[in-house]
Amino acid sequence: MAAFSAPVSRRHLLTGGALAAGGAVAGAAVTAAATGRAAPAPTTPVAVDPGTAVEPFHGPHQAGVATSPQAHASFLAFDLAPGTDRAALGRLMRLLTDDAVRLTRGQPALADTEPELAVLPARLTVTFGFGPGLFLAAGLDDRRPPSVAPLPAYPIDRLEDRWSGGDLLIQLCADDPVTVAHAQRMLVKDARAFGTPRWTQRGFRRGAGVEPDGRTQRNLLGQLDGTTNPAAGDATFGPAVWATGGPDWFRDGTTVVIRRIRLELETWDLLGRAGKEFAVGRRLDTGAPLTGTAEHDPPDFTATDATGFTVIPEFSHVARAHVADEELRMLRRPYNYDGQPDAAGQPDSGMIFAAYQADVARQFLPVQQRLAESDLLNEWTTPIGSAVFAIPPGCAEGGWIGQQLLG
Ligand code: HEM
Repeated sequence: MAAFSAPVSRRHLLTGGALAAGGAVAGAAVTAAATGRAAPAPTTPVAVDPGTAVEPFHGPHQAGVATSPQAHASFLAFDLAPGTDRAALGRLMRLLTDDAVRLTRGQPALADTEPELAVLPARLTVTFGFGPGLFLAAGLDDRRPPSVAPLPAYPIDRLEDRWSGGDLLIQLCADDPVTVAHAQRMLVKDARAFGTPRWTQRGFRRGAGVEPDGRTQRNLLGQLDGTTNPAAGDATFGPAVWATGGPDWFRDGTTVVIRRIRLELETWDLLGRAGKEFAVGRRLDTGAPLTGTAEHDPPDFTATDATGFTVIPEFSHVARAHVADEELRMLRRPYNYDGQPDAAGQPDSGMIFAAYQADVARQFLPVQQRLAESDLLNEWTTPIGSAVFAIPPGCAEGGWIGQQLLG
């Protein structure tokens, strides 16, 4: 255990550690050749950049929101056990914060049963969210940001209980799925005395390093997804994402809406390319709006063609979802999911749509309402899960997430 208690030195792993391990591999090969027996595998992790990269845990905001999306994610919702009151929630959040601080640094959690699995944080972020039921359990419903509540029912919804609701959210993101799995195990071990897992949603995006940084990812419909999104360096990012209004404790926090949206890939496949571009209002190859040639060209929603119709269809996804005021945009940070095809070979694929905004009522609801009323894309997308959480502000070293509310 002692060997794992100091932070992993990236320099050590990249230079001395890696060379030593390389030497061990060469030595093992010689041994194997000489003895004819397979040599034991070297145990020193030979880490490369993506493995040792660290996202800072502490700060005014929780990590995992403004963080450039990692390749893998697991979203876990818990139902709190009856009697889990404010004091118990304080104990739980101290414990989980401690796990998160260690694991995000590449150190094992306390009593980590597999400490070797903790040494490669791969940009791990652990983000906690409080659902409506947590405020009730704590006797603090009057301090719940008012729009942290179940969304209204929409006619497009086919929601399933097994993907909806939840009192406590643990969002784990990292560039490595083993890191996510280990962090998940450690956090669930500590949380399970206080509640039961309600749902777990595993998601993925392009692997780390597969595309240059800053590229817009493609979703499983093949579309560039994330073009019009608040960018972490923009002046409007803060007002759009971090809370300034609402209860005092919530300043610098945010909210997340998680919608599990099934994609009807088989019928999407039947649509021609032009139809697919029409439904969204952007091109599949470049992601450019139908009125432009490059991905980041501003869309012109008023331009018309020879027949007098708008070039970007009035009922296309982007026309319906567009929000002109940048301070009222949501931050979309979605992950793909891909489950087991059913007995007929029909895919189980879709999107874990995660949107972060300072205020659900002002930012998310109007867009979702417009999309539910009419959006050509609805034909190929079905919401099957829905949950809303307050993401408390971050904490400084020695503090814990939720302290401003529960402490
Ligand atoms: C599986 C379902 C969905 C798919 C496949 C999808 C796909 C896309 C694509 C391809 C774009 C254009 C590129 C971009 O700007 O990112 C886009 C834009 C957008 N989507 Fe979605 N989306 C989905 C669901 C949603 C939902 C549920 C919401 C919110 C309630 C939403 C809100 C937006 C917004 C705000 C934009 C930017 C519009 C603009 O200003 O141009 N999307 N989406």
